[in-house]
Amino acid sequence: MRASILVHSFRSAVLREKSTNPSSILQTRSISAYGYTQSKSLIYSTYGTPSEVLNLHTHSISPPHGSLVTLRTLAAPLNPADINQIQGTYPSKPTFSTALGTSQPAAVPGNEAVFEVQAVGSSVKTVKQGDWVVPARTGLGTWRTHLQIDEDQVMRVERQGLQPAHAATVTVNPLTAWRMLTDFVHLEPGRDWFIQNGANSGVGRAALQLGKLWGLKSIAVVRDRPGQEGERLKKELLDLGATRVVSEEESQTGEFASQIKTWMSESGTSGSAVRLALNCVGGKPAVALAKVLAPGGCMVTYGAMSKQPLSLPAGLLIFKNLRFEGFWVSKWGDEHPEDRRKCIGGVLDLVREGKFTMGPTMDVRWDFKTPKEGLVTAVQDTLEGYRKGKGMFVFGDT
Ligand SMILES: NC(=O)c1ccc[n+]([C@@H]2O[C@H](COP(=O)([O-])OP(=O)(O)OC[C@H]3O[C@@H](n4cnc5c(N)ncnc54)[C@H](OP(=O)(O)O)[C@@H]3O)[C@@H](O)[C@H]2O)c1
Repeated sequence: MRASILVHSFRSAVLREKSTNPSSILQTRSISAYGYTQSKSLIYSTYGTPSEVLNLHTHSISPPHGSLVTLRTLAAPLNPADINQIQGTYPSKPTFSTALGTSQPAAVPGNEAVFEVQAVGSSVKTVKQGDWVVPARTGLGTWRTHLQIDEDQVMRVERQGLQPAHAATVTVNPLTAWRMLTDFVHLEPGRDWFIQNGANSGVGRAALQLGKLWGLKSIAVVRDRPGQEGERLKKELLDLGATRVVSEEESQTGEFASQIKTWMSESGTSGSAVRLALNCVGGKPAVALAKVLAPGGCMVTYGAMSKQPLSLPAGLLIFKNLRFEGFWVSKWGDEHPEDRRKCIGGVLDLVREGKFTMGPTMDVRWDFKTPKEGLVTAVQDTLEGYRKGKGMFVFGDT
């Protein structure tokens, strides 16, 4: 990353400037009399439990020159992969460096966000002040109030009709769902079904909505909740686009396959079959999906939330010739930048048309004065299951 950063101690000279754009959530900015921006970043220097390894670091960013842009973060989600990266268990590792003026080499967590362009260098061509941009690829380090990078590290998104949370979560989950539904098997609208576990996750919710828009029937498998909460979640996912919603326990009973056949005959389509399974859980919930796939069907694994291995009965391969594939949106995006751009545009158009919603969020406000503890606790809390939404840093008075 080409970052132009000078550690600067003129905090007393900080001016509070009113945002020029009233529609922005940005109310004030910390910009010094000398044009320096004060930035706060969550950082880590060693892998481990988030509450033990994360720190809050302050540094100054000088005015941008050349092709550099200074960005102000508006919203940044807390995705499972971000946590795995901090724990050191994620395959792509961050770059640890002293570029932010830290005493130890450090990395900034976070892979997704939407930023507002605060200032641009003299040769910047693709964005201007006030534009919204998202990372051009994963690995940027987004859990910080401001950053300065080259313009080619971001992609402009048309902000009209969007909330920051829409743009902040468009580059990972909806794209993952979109590609998995289109790139592995041909699903015939009005006839074919797909099944998925972790169906109330961000990816799962995206798949339910896209599936419905594209005329596909779907079975959503979720972890059961006690009492009313379980029923409420089932209704929510049915409203979102699922054809049927079942608990993990229900999907593991001997009657599940015949239950699906009954649903198919009720749906009135001859030749229906479950041809695609999307697995982000692993263990028994994954085997349950494989067992109801039609011969020649495909299971795409994209996560392992239960941390259990995928142990498959050999008969599923010998007699049903099932295919088992994996998908990683980071790699796909790097290899298909133009398709990635089109997909992001496609999802945001659906949002503007009111046909697609991002999942529920649990917002954590991040102001300039927000103490480290509040931020770190929010990150640590994402390790708990059965949450009401995805953690999201929402930046206020920074
Ligand atoms: N390969 C890729 O390119 C790619 C892209 C995006 C996401 N992912 C992966 O997909 C998964 C979901 O990510 P997300 O951002 O969509 O999730 P999210 O919105 O943050 O939600 C987390 C989901 O995980 C479920 N979960 C947590 N612990 C579980 C367990 N022990 N057993 C079963 N389910 C469990 C939660 O279910 P409850 O509500 O029941 O707790 C919830 O549905 C993660 O593994 C993530 O790393 C992969």
